[in-house]
Amino acid sequence: MKKLLTALFGAALILGACGGDEPTPAPAEPAPTETPATDETAAGTYDATRAQTAYQSCAGCHGGDLQGQGNNPAITGLTAEEVLLAIQEGPGIMPPNMVTGEEAENLAAWIAAQ
Ligand code: HEC
Repeated sequence: MKKLLTALFGAALILGACGGDEPTPAPAEPAPTETPATDETAAGTYDATRAQTAYQSCAGCHGGDLQGQGNNPAITGLTAEEVLLAIQEGPGIMPPNMVTGEEAENLAAWIAAQ
């Protein structure tokens, strides 16, 4: 009996020693400085919140769901390039350059993704 206890005790010691020898965890990596999605419009990503805000100026004609209304066409199923071109040129009675630059690119990418 004593032998068994000794063996168990020894095993516990060894296990304990092993546990104590765990390598100290590497210090936490510094948080990666992520590029905000707003800067990646060229890559096809977009900031939906910003796009929806910008779209407020289009919704009066194209509807809240991009399905168009009255004489204003639906603007679904278009590529970002097509949407951007329309924003810049303002086809027909649509006013050109209501939204410009990066904001327009972001909006176009978002519309194309709907
Ligand atoms: C004053 C109303 C009006 C506003 C505001 C307006 N549009 Fe338009 N849009 C139109 C009309 C009308 C057409 C169709 C013009 C034509 O082809 O004769 C059009 C066409 C388009 C087209 C081309 C559709 C196609 O099938 O080729 C896109 C894309 C578009 N608009 C996006 C937008 C976006 C984005 C905005 C906001 C920045 C916007 N529009 C604001 C009236 C408007």
